[in-house]
Amino acid sequence: MTPTLTPPQKWQRRHVLSLQDFTVAELDIVLQTALSFQEVLNRRTKKVPTLQARVVANLFFENSTRTRNSFELAAKRLSADILNFSPGTSALNKGETILDTAKTLWAMGAEFMVIRHQQSGVPQTIAAEMDRLGAQVAVLNAGDGLHEHPSQALLDLFTLCQLYDPHQPRCALLQGKKIAIVGDIRHSRVARSNLYSLKTAGADVHLAGPPTLLPLEFAEYGATLHWTLEPALADADIVMTLRLQRERMDQHLIPSLREYHRQFGMTHERLRLCKPHVHLMHPGPVNRGVELSSALLDDPQFSLVHQQVSSGVAVRMALLYLMGTYHGAKGG
Ligand code: CP
Repeated sequence: MTPTLTPPQKWQRRHVLSLQDFTVAELDIVLQTALSFQEVLNRRTKKVPTLQARVVANLFFENSTRTRNSFELAAKRLSADILNFSPGTSALNKGETILDTAKTLWAMGAEFMVIRHQQSGVPQTIAAEMDRLGAQVAVLNAGDGLHEHPSQALLDLFTLCQLYDPHQPRCALLQGKKIAIVGDIRHSRVARSNLYSLKTAGADVHLAGPPTLLPLEFAEYGATLHWTLEPALADADIVMTLRLQRERMDQHLIPSLREYHRQFGMTHERLRLCKPHVHLMHPGPVNRGVELSSALLDDPQFSLVHQQVSSGVAVRMALLYLMGTYHGAKGG
């Protein structure tokens, strides 16, 4: 049985590179489509023929567990053929450029490229080159440097909206909800994409972190900034913690991991400042005992981390499906 899917004519993007200009209507289309695919994933037969014989290339130039595997599983559940490109064993080591690599995969028939790179802007550059060539290849940003991670923010949005209405997730459910994003905002592509989608959905977004990791410019996004944790947590509905990269200590941006945990680490005790039904999110990978206590991460009463990972497959199926229906104008 085919799931009930959004009419394709509503989707106006070839690429998904950023959430900066996504509208509420577009976010809601992703949520509704992901719900349909979640229903597929709950069946005994978890596969649909939606992308049969179409080729999805995974190009991960930077390490990944969640994003890479869930895009691969999403493509397989849609019956696509997958090319898993491994930079370490590729002709990149013989001097081939990334653009020539992308053109090579296009020549083999890749219609979708899911790209992660440590440098901001690589997926955008590849998408622009594919468009210049008239290639009709759909490029999805799977995390680029400090810039954006759209599919992570969309799976976060889906997880959050399902918390409030499992059967009809939609942006309106987040109207006025206080969402605190805590940690290394400056270097976080997850924070940027979430800021865009959560603000568009109508949430009241608060950012908290040490001044070295939370520059003033983030106020421009319409969020409230805090350089101590407590005001961000006060009456929060949701707390989203971010991974603290250990090299921030070597860069003298934090005094020590222990001190960071003392000031900004989430614990059961600190959650008491929030609303009674507060939930905690983390995109992963987690540094246990740094961004949050191990006990809190593993506490299903509060932690949504497992649901976030599960939602990732349905949301990424939705994105591949929607991008596969595109036939017209808008770019990324
Ligand atoms: N959240 C996230 O992007 O995780 P991975 O680095 O494992 O893909």
